[in-house]
This record gives sequence, structure tokens and C-alpha cells, in this order.
Amino acid sequence: MRIRFIYYAFSIFLLFSLPAEAGQNIVTVHYPAERAVMEFNLLSISLSLPQDSADLIEIEVNSKIRASIVPRRKFECLTVPLELGINELSIKAKKEDKIVDDVALNVFRRSDLVSKYAKPPAGFEKNYFHMKDHSQCATCHHVLEPTEADNEAINIEAYAAEVSEKKAVVPSESSCYSCHREITSYSFVHGPNFVWSCLTCHDSQAEPKYSIKYPVPELCYKCHVEQKKRRSGKKSYHAPYITEKCGICHNPHASENPCRLDQPIWLLCVACHPDHGDGRHVIAAYFWGTRHRKHPTHGVPDPSRKGHELTCASCHDAHASDSPKFITKYDTRSFDLCMKCHMKNKH
Ligand code: HEC
Ligand code: HEC
Ligand code: HEC
Ligand code: HEC
Ligand code: HEC
Ligand code: HEC
Ligand code: HEC
Ligand code: HEC
Repeated sequence: MRIRFIYYAFSIFLLFSLPAEAGQNIVTVHYPAERAVMEFNLLSISLSLPQDSADLIEIEVNSKIRASIVPRRKFECLTVPLELGINELSIKAKKEDKIVDDVALNVFRRSDLVSKYAKPPAGFEKNYFHMKDHSQCATCHHVLEPTEADNEAINIEAYAAEVSEKKAVVPSESSCYSCHREITSYSFVHGPNFVWSCLTCHDSQAEPKYSIKYPVPELCYKCHVEQKKRRSGKKSYHAPYITEKCGICHNPHASENPCRLDQPIWLLCVACHPDHGDGRHVIAAYFWGTRHRKHPTHGVPDPSRKGHELTCASCHDAHASDSPKFITKYDTRSFDLCMKCHMKNKH
């Protein structure tokens, strides 16, 4: 019995010691921590490795290579995109095409849009980077205290005139830029981020450090006063709007879609209303026997809005409206809505 036990114990020991032989603990990952929770799609990675120990670093996220670099310094920093839910990271160090080290890590990207990703699984939690001391970063980055430029006041009314002419703002004075530069590398950048005034929303005195200054949507209404006025006192409010989660649909920083929507409008709406994507509901109420007839909801130009694609937002206001079902401007069950596009088609 005992000999057998020792034998098993020994073979288990062998089994676990094997990978350690292949990977020689070359790479030290400083960030992220195992099982961290993120809100958005960017993850920073910082690692160090002995000089000349590897000639290539490859980073896989859920088995897809998302970054590869030739290490030149002892310390390397990079950013990779995250998918919703669990992201299995594999950081591979290679030398002459052989894997010399492979570090595995899991990170969870949360989302209010997809209910199964709203809460992180057991064991995953937020890991606040700025709550810890990072003296090893400070040798190359300005991490200690933010500057005036990070908190430049934004006047939303004057913004368009002031900023749109200066095409590329060089955020040389931002103390956030050197690490967070990827956050604005999208086609549509939100005003305050475009000028790198990060502290208009993030509080350097808060705990956790750089928490947002006010809860959403109060935060948004600090500047979007007009928006608040226009939408107050409406008869009906869309559930995600009234539950005050602007971030379900809008990214506060930047994205690939106008209004920095997290996804193109159609995908966004269909994520929560999967039965409405084919547009049957548009016609069903109007013509008897058309239950199986579809109406376009995307992929064609919108006759009522030049330069826009037809989407759910051509007929619905995503926030609030005086008519039920958030039909834009017009009443439901009157042909006014239909005429908005179908009369114009004629000329
Ligand atoms: C040896 C100097 C050095 C140290 C130490 C260092 N960095 Fe960097 N870091 C850089 C340089 C240089 C860049 C600019 C990116 C480049 O050109 O490779 C950078 C860029 C970054 C980026 C942006 C990467 C991207 O894809 O845009 C992040 C995030 C970052 N560093 C985080 C950190 C963190 C966190 C630490 C501490 C754990 C740290 N850095 C320590 C030199 C350093
Ligand atoms: C040395 C690099 C570095 C600098 C400089 C830096 N950050 Fe970060 N920050 C990080 C890293 C790494 C994370 C972890 C999240 C990630 O992967 O992007 C982070 C996370 C955050 C978070 C999420 C909360 C947290 O603590 O994890 C906020 C908010 C934030 N940074 C704001 C800022 C602002 C505002 C500035 C400028 C005043 C700034 N950061 C400067 C590296 C840096
Ligand atoms: C319009 C307001 C606003 C501005 C301006 C803003 N942020 Fe944020 N930021 C937010 C909100 C809201 C969150 C989500 C916070 C939360 O849920 O705890 C956030 C979260 C973050 C995070 C955490 C990311 C994650 O995946 O967990 C980082 C990093 C960050 N911001 C960096 C920045 C930097 C750098 C700037 C300046 C370029 C900036 N922010 C400007 C509103 C803003
Ligand atoms: C510090 C001021 C400020 C805060 C806070 C702020 N915004 Fe903005 N927002 C702006 C500016 C400036 C613009 C650009 C206006 C322009 O282009 O005319 C803008 C533009 C927008 C637009 C696009 C408007 C359009 O017509 O294209 C949306 C959507 C938006 N913000 C949503 C939000 C949300 C959601 C929040 C809260 C998370 C928020 N904003 C917080 C200043 C702010
Ligand atoms: C259900 C998704 C959704 C939610 C939640 C949402 N929005 Fe929007 N928002 C949109 C869409 C879609 C558009 C673009 C409409 C269009 O193209 O006509 C938009 C456009 C905007 C605009 C610019 C155009 C306009 O109508 O003024 C602002 C500003 C804005 N949203 C602010 C907010 C604020 C503030 C909140 C939270 C209180 C919020 N949104 C919540 C989907 C949403
Ligand atoms: C995060 C989930 C979510 C997103 C995203 C979302 N909705 Fe909704 N929507 C709801 C909920 C919840 C309700 C209220 C429950 C219901 O009546 O079905 C609702 C109700 C509605 C209604 C009224 C239903 C009724 O019978 O009165 C319309 C119309 C609507 N949404 C359109 C849209 C459009 C258009 C978009 C995209 C701009 C969108 N929704 C995006 C969750 C969402
Ligand atoms: C061409 C105009 C139009 C488009 C495009 C459109 N809708 Fe509608 N939608 C309507 C009308 C009209 C109603 C009201 C039907 C009624 O009163 O029975 C409606 C009703 C709804 C309702 C309430 C439930 C119901 O079936 O009555 C939801 C939810 C909804 N739409 C979601 C969407 C989503 C999501 C999209 C995009 C995929 C979309 N709609 C695209 C016109 C449109
Ligand atoms: C925002 C613009 C818009 C609105 C509002 C709109 N439509 Fe349409 N509709 C279109 C476009 C675009 C097409 C596709 C035309 C084409 O392919 O030439 C279309 C196609 C149709 C079709 C043909 C569908 C098929 O089988 O191919 C019918 C029927 C129709 N619409 C009925 C309606 C009715 C009824 C309403 C009012 C509830 C309405 N539409 C509101 C833009 C709109």
C-alpha cells in the first residue's frame, strides 16, 4: 500500500515538475493580476524578462494571437483587446522558435448588455491598479500625481468650435497618456477624452483612486444639460435609460461607432430584443395577414436621414418619447411614421 502511495505521489510530482522544465520562469508578469475584472475592451500588460532570454513574446487571448513583440528592454508594456466574459491569456516567450516560457492568466470582462456577463464568476474580482504602489513603473512613467492638464474644464457648447479644427491633439501634458494611449485609438472619441481631460470624470482623490466623480447618469448630465432637458417629462422611458446605465450602450471613452455606441445600433438593440431584428413587427400591426412579411431594419439607406443607414433608431428613440414604444416623433398606429420614408421614396 505504502509503496504504491509513494509511487503515485512520485509520479504526480513528476507530472507537475515537467512544465517547469519546459518553461523556466523567464517572464514575470507585473500586471494584470490573475482573475482580474475589467469593464471595457482594453487590457494593459506589463512584464519583465532577463535580457536575451527570449527573441519573441506572443500573447494569445482565447487562443487567438493578439500581440507579438520582439523584446528589446528588460521591461515591456503592451495592450491587448478583450472579449466579453472570460479571457484566457497565454503569454508565450519564444527563443529560436521554441517556447521557453508560457504564463497562463484569466481575466473577466463584465458587461451589463449581456446578462450572463453582468456578474463575474466566483473568484474573479476588481483589481485596482492605482490603489497599489507601483514604484517599478515610476522609473519610466510619470505615475505619481496627475497634472493640471488632466483636469482641463470642458465647455460643451464651445467644444465643437474650439476643438474640431485642431485635428490631432497631442496629449503631451497628460500624465495618463503614456499608459492609456490606446483608449482613444478609435474612430469616434468622446470630447473630454479627445483633449485628454481624464479628470473631468475621474477623481484623483477618490477611493478607489480614479473612481468616477458622480454616478452615471449624473456624471453625463454635468455636461449634457441640454440632453437632460430635452428628455425630461416624457411619457415613456426606455428601461435601460431609466435604470440609469448609459454605459450599457455608450462607451464613455471612444469606440468604432457614432455616438461611441458600444456596437452598431442594430446589434445593440438586437442583443436585448432578439425577436425584432427581422422587422416583422413593423408591418404586422398595419396589414392583416402580413405576419410573415419582413421589413428592413438595417443594411439599406434611411430615406429620412441622409447619409445614415436605416436602423432601429430610424423609428425608435433609444432614450425616451411621448409616444408608446418610443416611436420617434410620431404616434404608433398612424401612417405618419411610414410616410416619413415611403412618401420621400417617390421623388
Ligand atoms: C524600462 C522602462 C519602463 C518601465 C519600468 C515600465 N514601462 Fe510601461 N512603457 C515604457 C515605454 C517606453 C512605453 C511606450 C511603449 C513602447 O514604445 O514600447 C510604455 C508603455 C506602457 C503602456 C502602454 C502600452 C500600449 O500598448 O500602448 C502601458 C499600459 C504601460 N507602459 C504600463 C506600465 C506599467 C503598469 C509598468 C509597471 C508595472 C510599466 N509600464 C513600467 C517603458 C516602461
Ligand atoms: C504607469 C502606467 C499608468 C499611468 C501613468 C496611469 N495609469 Fe491608469 N491604469 C494603468 C493600468 C496598468 C491599469 C489597469 C487597467 C488596464 O489594464 O488598463 C490602470 C487602470 C486605471 C483605471 C481603472 C481603475 C484601476 O485602478 O484599476 C482608471 C480609472 C485609470 N487607470 C485612470 C488613470 C488616469 C486618470 C491616469 C492619469 C491621471 C492614469 N490612469 C495613469 C496604468 C497607468
Ligand atoms: C465622460 C466621463 C469619462 C471620461 C472623460 C473618462 N472616463 Fe474613464 N471611465 C468612465 C466610466 C463611467 C468608467 C467605468 C467606471 C466604473 O464602472 O467603475 C471608466 C473607466 C475607466 C477605466 C477602467 C477600464 C476597465 O476596463 O475597467 C480606465 C482605465 C479609464 N476609465 C481611463 C480613462 C482615461 C485614461 C481617461 C482620459 C483619456 C478617461 N478614462 C476619461 C468615464 C470617463
Ligand atoms: C466633461 C464634459 C462631459 C461629460 C461629463 C460627458 N460628456 Fe458626452 N460629450 C462631451 C462633449 C464636449 C461632446 C462633444 C460635443 C460635440 O461634438 O458637439 C460630447 C459628446 C457626446 C455624445 C455624442 C453626441 C453627438 O451628438 O454626437 C454622446 C452620445 C455623449 N457625449 C454621451 C455621454 C455619456 C453617456 C456621458 C456619461 C458617461 C457623457 N457623455 C459625459 C462632454 C461630456
Ligand atoms: C439602449 C441604449 C442606450 C442607452 C441606455 C442610452 N443611449 Fe444615448 N443613444 C443611443 C443611441 C442608439 C443613440 C444614437 C441615436 C441616433 O442615431 O439617432 C444615442 C444618442 C445619444 C446622444 C446624442 C444624440 C442625442 O440624441 O442627443 C446623447 C447625448 C446620448 N445618447 C446620451 C445618453 C445618456 C446621457 C444616457 C444615459 C442617461 C444614454 N444616452 C443612454 C442609445 C442609448
Ligand atoms: C440592455 C438591454 C436593452 C437594450 C440594449 C435595448 N433595450 Fe429596448 N427594452 C429593454 C427592456 C428591459 C424593455 C422593457 C421590457 C419590455 O417591454 O420588453 C425595453 C423596451 C423597449 C421597447 C418598448 C417595448 C414596449 O412594448 O413598450 C422598445 C420599442 C425598445 N425597447 C426598443 C429598443 C431599441 C430600438 C434599442 C436599440 C437602440 C433597444 N431597445 C435596446 C431592454 C433593452
Ligand atoms: C421602420 C420602422 C421601425 C424599425 C426600423 C424598427 N421598428 Fe420596432 N416598432 C416599430 C413600430 C411601428 C412599432 C409598434 C408596433 C405596434 O404598435 O404594434 C414597433 C415596436 C417595437 C417594439 C415593441 C414590441 C412590439 O413588437 O410592439 C420593440 C421591442 C421594437 N419595436 C424593437 C425594435 C428593434 C430592436 C428594432 C431594430 C432591430 C426595431 N424595432 C426596428 C417600427 C420600427
Ligand atoms: C425610416 C424609414 C422607414 C420607415 C419609417 C418605414 N419604412 Fe418601410 N421601408 C423602408 C425601406 C428603406 C424599405 C426598403 C425599400 C427598398 O428596398 O426599396 C422599406 C420597405 C417596406 C416594405 C416592403 C417590404 C418588403 O417586403 O420588402 C413595406 C411593406 C413597408 N416598408 C411598410 C412600411 C410601413 C407599414 C411602415 C410604417 C409602420 C414603414 N414601412 C415605415 C423604410 C422605412
